[in-house]
Amino acid sequence: MRLAVIGTGYVGLVSGVCFSDLGNDVVCVDKLENKVDMLLQGISPIYEPGLEELIHKNKEQGRLNFTTNLAEAVQKSEIIIIAVGTPSLPNGQANLSFIEDAAKEIGQSLNNFKIIVTKSTVPVGTNEKIKQIISKYSQFPFEIASVPEFLREGTAVQDTLHPDRIIIGATSDYAKEKLIKLHSPLSENILVTDIRSAEMIKYASNAFLATKISFINEIANICEKVGADITQVASGMGYDKRIGSSFLKAGIGYGGSCFPKDTQALIQIAGQMDYDFKLLKSVVEVNHEQRFNIIRKLEALLGDLSERTIAIWGLSFKPETDDVRDAPAFEIINALLQRGAKVRAYDPIATENFKKCFTREEVQYCLGAQEAAVQADALCILTEWSEFKNISPEMIESWLTEPNLIDGRNIYSQEDLAKTKLNYYSIGRPNLN
Ligand code: UGA
Repeated sequence: MRLAVIGTGYVGLVSGVCFSDLGNDVVCVDKLENKVDMLLQGISPIYEPGLEELIHKNKEQGRLNFTTNLAEAVQKSEIIIIAVGTPSLPNGQANLSFIEDAAKEIGQSLNNFKIIVTKSTVPVGTNEKIKQIISKYSQFPFEIASVPEFLREGTAVQDTLHPDRIIIGATSDYAKEKLIKLHSPLSENILVTDIRSAEMIKYASNAFLATKISFINEIANICEKVGADITQVASGMGYDKRIGSSFLKAGIGYGGSCFPKDTQALIQIAGQMDYDFKLLKSVVEVNHEQRFNIIRKLEALLGDLSERTIAIWGLSFKPETDDVRDAPAFEIINALLQRGAKVRAYDPIATENFKKCFTREEVQYCLGAQEAAVQADALCILTEWSEFKNISPEMIESWLTEPNLIDGRNIYSQEDLAKTKLNYYSIGRPNLN
């Protein structure tokens, strides 16, 4: 099939590249010329395992192209996929201006019948607005559909090629059949719904996963008080198929460009309908509070943090990505600086992006894990990169001036730590000191 994908962020770029890998003819469109130039040279603007290889392969085989010319891309395609960003407005609502602009430009470009699919995460009812905007600018017939995306950063290519399910929200049989055909090589689990339900499935799924994380983090906080171990508790809970073992990893809370934005947006969507989504509001509050456990634990070990040197390992919101959007590291480092601490930070790949949050005068950025930890008064692990898991606790002990290790992601085993003299505070497990 001939596809145009509007927007080359995580969702648009990865979907476009993967659809081309399935044999479709794909053109990805972005307004940013330098981004399109990079992509035309085969360079991925985001770090995502396996993506650049697929860009090269499919470009060379002539199935994948990139352009700034939306009209031409639309006119040559049968299916148009909208995958532009829907960032948060200051009040938490989704900002739909990129969606509205895309719909207007699509409307102005239509030359015959098209199926227009929204993959961006959009509030319930948005696809109907998209339909109205396109109709305003075009006389040609078209169908709209909602096919939300469930890929995770860091495993985006794998998730796109092997999704747990595909949701297709569409009205006409023609659009349903065409979209089932497009997605059938990806999954056997294709659920066809109405458009509003498809839009809601995306928000409800992200909100539920966020709820699982805040729930397990609160259980972890209680474990600390009663002397239980959250890793054992989560594993014991996860064997129950009704609960499931994933998303029960306690830590310093969720970050990234999706959960924080989508939970706020769903609270707003409910609020506009006069529904107070109390549970989700608490999930957000618990998540925010959880980050500061790192500061509380540091203060319990060191007292006043002013003039103390604190090493930070991990700046991205999760491993295998250079994305620092809403990463817990931001608020934790901010709180440390406010307390007068000196911060030395290292991340395997996210440092360049993080430099936009704090300058070199505020934070000393290090080229390696050891450089950050040497002669620090404490080390805090904020992202569970495998590079850190491979560094022995004995090594960390030899680098630090004072033997304080705060493990915000529970990457070390208590047994290994017990062999050292490190004061080891993790999340939801008994302290070792
Ligand atoms: C999330 C969803 O998992 C995807 O299904 C969805 O498509 C995506 O949002 C989106 O809406 O675009 P993502 O934000 O890339 O994907 O990453 P996740 O792996 O879900 O992790 C989110 C955050 O939760 C990370 O900060 C991670 O550290 C945290 N997390 C995750 C935990 O603290 N504990 C866990 O057990 C799992």
